[in-house]
Amino acid sequence: MENIASPLSSLRCLNDSMKREEKKSGNGAFRALPPANKKTEVWSPDPPLPITQTPSAQFARSGWVLRTTILFQAPHMIRDRKFHLRTFRRCLVGTEMVDWIIQQSGSFFHIHSRSQASGMWQALLEEGVIFHVTQEHQFKDKYNFYRFRDDQEGIGTAPSTKDRHQAESELQETFSLLLQQAPDAILRMTLRKPPSDRTAEDLELIYDELLHIKALSHLSNSVKRELASVLYFESHAMAGTVLFHQGDEGKSWYIILKGCVNVVIYGKGEVCTLQEGDDFGKLALVNDAPRAATIVTREDNCHFLRVDKDDFNRILRDVEANTVRLKEHGQDVLLLQKIASDGRVAEGAHSHYKYTVIAGTPQKMLEHLLETRVDSRLEETGEPSSQDNFLEDFLLTHIMFMPNHQLCSELKKHYNIDVTNSRQETEFIIASKRRVAHFVQTWATTIREQFYEDPVISRFIQDLQIAIVHDSKHYKSLEEEVKTMTNMVDTKQKLQEEYDNNSSQRWKVSAFGHIVRMIPGGSEEEDKPTTRRPIKDWDEIIFRVHCADHTYTTLKTVVGATSETIKGFAADKLGLKDDLVLVEVKSSGERIVFKDFEVSVPTGLSINGRIFLSPTDHLDALTPLPEQEGPSEGTGNTLETLNSNELAYQMAMYDWELFSSVHEYELIYQVFERHQFRKTMSNLDVFLRRFNEVQFWVVTEMCLTTSLSRRVQLLRKFIKVACHCREYQDLNAFFAIVMGLSNIAVSRLSQTWERLPGKIKKVFSEFETLIDPSRNHRRYRQFVSKLESPIIPFMPLLLKDMTFTHEGNKTYLEGLVNFEKMHMIAQTLRTLRNCRSRPLVIEAPPSGKSAHEVRKYIRNFCLIDNQRRLTQLSNNLEPRRP
Ligand code: CMP
Repeated sequence: MENIASPLSSLRCLNDSMKREEKKSGNGAFRALPPANKKTEVWSPDPPLPITQTPSAQFARSGWVLRTTILFQAPHMIRDRKFHLRTFRRCLVGTEMVDWIIQQSGSFFHIHSRSQASGMWQALLEEGVIFHVTQEHQFKDKYNFYRFRDDQEGIGTAPSTKDRHQAESELQETFSLLLQQAPDAILRMTLRKPPSDRTAEDLELIYDELLHIKALSHLSNSVKRELASVLYFESHAMAGTVLFHQGDEGKSWYIILKGCVNVVIYGKGEVCTLQEGDDFGKLALVNDAPRAATIVTREDNCHFLRVDKDDFNRILRDVEANTVRLKEHGQDVLLLQKIASDGRVAEGAHSHYKYTVIAGTPQKMLEHLLETRVDSRLEETGEPSSQDNFLEDFLLTHIMFMPNHQLCSELKKHYNIDVTNSRQETEFIIASKRRVAHFVQTWATTIREQFYEDPVISRFIQDLQIAIVHDSKHYKSLEEEVKTMTNMVDTKQKLQEEYDNNSSQRWKVSAFGHIVRMIPGGSEEEDKPTTRRPIKDWDEIIFRVHCADHTYTTLKTVVGATSETIKGFAADKLGLKDDLVLVEVKSSGERIVFKDFEVSVPTGLSINGRIFLSPTDHLDALTPLPEQEGPSEGTGNTLETLNSNELAYQMAMYDWELFSSVHEYELIYQVFERHQFRKTMSNLDVFLRRFNEVQFWVVTEMCLTTSLSRRVQLLRKFIKVACHCREYQDLNAFFAIVMGLSNIAVSRLSQTWERLPGKIKKVFSEFETLIDPSRNHRRYRQFVSKLESPIIPFMPLLLKDMTFTHEGNKTYLEGLVNFEKMHMIAQTLRTLRNCRSRPLVIEAPPSGKSAHEVRKYIRNFCLIDNQRRLTQLSNNLEPRRP
């Protein structure tokens, strides 16, 4: 960063030029200097001024050769001239200068046109070898006065005869240099004209040139034609000149015509160098964001083409390249893609689009987020300031590619921008600090209690609060951020106190495998209508571990205990020592061995599954407990007395409780290798288990109802309950009931179905259409898209979507996080968030039985989950027809 020239010097230049008085034209007319273009970020010299600091040795020599030759061949050309009462000393006239060059055209060089000769003089003017006498015009083949540098500075002497011979011997070389430079000089001369002064011929000339520029190669010729009338030429004579600073408002887009620039980022220094033909500066324009980097010229005499913001938006915004790659130290760090305002990848012309991240390193994505998606002003709501989902997607998915400790440490770096680099302006420092505070605030609102519960984040927000309080003494405008951070620390403390007071929240795996909350005193809480609290890693859970002989021990561990810990406790209590395995034995007899690192063991069992501990070589001897078979009698008698609407209502209330307890992260833990995060997903386990419970409850009750007429009544009842579930938007229960009724053990009961009234059959076939999985559950998706929250969604489908996204897309692409995958994952998580964006408030139906009894009934299903047994029962009810 040391070689960055102060931007103030360039600003000073701009102001000086704006302040310059109107001067009387050398040709007699009064003419206002063209106002400096207020839109430009840096000053570009006035068209009549040289573009180099001093002439190069080669050009200085050419000037000497021409002046010496003219003074011998046509000395009258350089003389004092009067114009409108002013005398201009030792000057030449533009038209005569052109005439003279044309006269020289002969055997060793040939001039085709007057404009070519003008170009040769313009090349000398650009280098500061000749000047317009009042520095108002570029070179013109007109009655304009010009002067050689030596005469301008008053050091021009009369040449000697020896000088004459020397000059004549160098004349050929001088003309070939100028002939070579003329075309570029003519082009620059044209590009330095105000667009309104450009003639059709000028535009054609610029257009021809644009056809050869790499940075424009993706644009159509008609766009290039439009550009010809708006492009400016900008040059910087000195290496180390800042074109703009990181954090500045974006005002122009640049293409490098000559030279190269460094891209510099605070806290990182130079991250890359851009060369001739490269472009820069469109991110800020397209995304309406501050500049992502500072751009500094790396060598003297850098030339650029510049398109200012309004023209860029009008001509280029919609036809810009679809992807942009940003590099640092030769490596890709960010891949951006044009996205139309409706979120689709832009294909044709769209009136609004932004660049969105499709891949990147975690650090660069965070940097880009802070700069483009987090407002440096305080948003009252703490909601993301931009309309797109980049920030929310990042917050919902970062745990897959940037764990909390890494994110906190990067945020610290961004916050401490003034410590790592002391040269920025106060405004930039404050904006950077605010962005970190607002990012953290949005993080907390998005992630909620999992944010406050994480010890790494807790420490980080405490440190951040201390830092902001400290900084606010120095930077007064950080007061709002102090409040925000203090509120967050308070929230964290309150939550902690709440947890400390209820530190021993306990759960129990009941005799039927339900996960129930214990209230102090030891009873099960599920019968009482209280607000359910999500299951936490550190909560205690009581469950049984069985041995091969069906004896058991009761264990109490934390929910987050690994299988290995549980195995150790159980082995101690049961006095077993051998090489042991912890196993789930399902009611079907299937055995599934837990890996040592697995978590959420007691909550993740199948409905009638039980945990067993066994020596590895006795695994085959494990058999299910008799209780795993499930009931031999149904609850038909009770069910008959319960009102369908009330059943559905209580089911919706229960499902809502369970659904509300599931954190978005639990879906990620579940799909992305269930155990790699070592975090419990017990709330999701319980909710998914509920789906299976309802499904098997329906099948069990149907298969345990021996009387045909009662079975028909029950079938009608289930269809009615499903109907109410759909009304209450409890689609999880709706699917479970309809899938239960479609289970082969029920669907094959043709005598039962035959007796169902036609009207009800029709309703059911409508339900079947709704759960039809074809075309990726199209019917259901269409149906649900028309609903408004609160909705209890069909959870297995959300998980299936996430699994497909995960399995079908790599998490990393060539070392960069595949953020398109993260967008997709976040989209599913957003569906979940939208479903519960409003609380479930439904009016309780008039109660036939006591609400308490219905509530108790639907929370304590006792059922058969062994498909073979269910099919057998079904066969017994209605034997297969021969
Ligand atoms: P913009 O943000 O408008 O201004 C700074 C420009 O630097 C930015 O657009 C990009 O065009 C360019 N740039 C090139 N490489 C990088 C990089 N690694 N990070 C940020 N900006 C970069």
